Amino acid sequence: MFTIQQSCSAWRIICFKTTKPTPTAVWWSVKCHTGPEVVLQLNEQGAPHNQVTKRHRKERSLCQQVLERFDQQYSQELGDLWPSARAVLLDPHSWQYGVMLNRFTTVTGITQILQSQGFSTLLPQTPSLSSPRPTLQCYIHPYPLRFPSQAHRPGQLKQYYLLNAASLLPVLALQIRDGEKVLDLCSAPGGKALAITQCATPALLCCNEPDPHRRDWLSKTLESFLPQSLISRVIVSAQDGRSFGQSEAGTYDKVLVDAPCSNDRSWLYSCSSQQGEQRLKERARLPALQTQLLRSALSAVRPGGAVVYSTCTLSSSENCAVVETVLNDCPEADPEDLWEEIAIPLAKYFTFSPAHPGHGQTPHKLGILVVPQPGKTWGPMFLSRIRRRK
Ligand SMILES: C[S@@+](CC[C@H](N)C(=O)[O-])C[C@H]1O[C@@H](n2cnc3c(N)ncnc32)[C@H](O)[C@@H]1O
Repeated sequence: MFTIQQSCSAWRIICFKTTKPTPTAVWWSVKCHTGPEVVLQLNEQGAPHNQVTKRHRKERSLCQQVLERFDQQYSQELGDLWPSARAVLLDPHSWQYGVMLNRFTTVTGITQILQSQGFSTLLPQTPSLSSPRPTLQCYIHPYPLRFPSQAHRPGQLKQYYLLNAASLLPVLALQIRDGEKVLDLCSAPGGKALAITQCATPALLCCNEPDPHRRDWLSKTLESFLPQSLISRVIVSAQDGRSFGQSEAGTYDKVLVDAPCSNDRSWLYSCSSQQGEQRLKERARLPALQTQLLRSALSAVRPGGAVVYSTCTLSSSENCAVVETVLNDCPEADPEDLWEEIAIPLAKYFTFSPAHPGHGQTPHKLGILVVPQPGKTWGPMFLSRIRRRK
């Protein structure tokens, strides 16, 4: 039984109770804008308690300079999609969360709980998507309900990882198969590396992260989710990704470049105007870094192998423009169209941008863009797949 009211700009779930008796009976409530967020609690066995925790979220302060820059740029680049994308980015309480299950743990109990709470599986058995990733399971909810994150328990693997479901798309685009050598060039905190291990069992997964603090975070993520048998195939490396391609030329079957970018969700909430200014300066320097990382990835991949380039910004100068620059001076690289393979089968769950500025006849040739929209708040996420010719 549940009651839903629409108030403010978002759906407000007033109360939600399963019809099952305790201990599975549970109340959920998500408030919009003000008041506590009520989060489902799980007990030691992973079953929900019949009690809830109230968390008063700190309101985040908006960075006006960043918003003004986004308004100027994205109203031109996204046209009619921008006002609704803007509304989602400005309302963190509307954001949805995906729950990616860990295939190395027993997930039956969690699956039952998720289904009983109204979650459903994101990846249908769509022929074009299902073959390379039969083991990847992610659950999503139509409303912005947040499943609790799991605390670290020594000696026990975590059963699930919370993420923006659009983060799975670059991993799907990699089409990882058992026995491949895979490089995750910009890896921390490790969400996509984990998703890679859910899709298949690589012969080698190299997770590269030059920032020591973030590399520490990455190692902890890997340890909490992967069994020893797989950890032995995973290497954590600390190189500057720009020179990786020179040191390990032609080594990998697949390379993911989940590049540092102007993360649109978090950059809107910079702490001070000084930080906002700093970020806008940094933003101008990012395309050069991204271009070098993508070139390096194309050197690290073997002939016939594939590179996926992704970012979590809507900015075309960090997305299509980077891909175009690299393709212009790399004649042995071909972009592959992800529209039929990913955008069409998953259009029910994600809003893909219909076109990119300046690419008239083949708007999706250089990549596809997930634009957050009300009720489908996933993204921003840009992805492009480039194959190195044999
Ligand atoms: C968008 S995040 C990656 C997120 C990660 N793939 C995941 O799914 O959890 C980009 C990462 O690139 C790293 N980075 C920054 N400069 C880099 C460089 N020159 N080479 C490689 N990685 C770099 C950042 O420290 C950051 O951790």
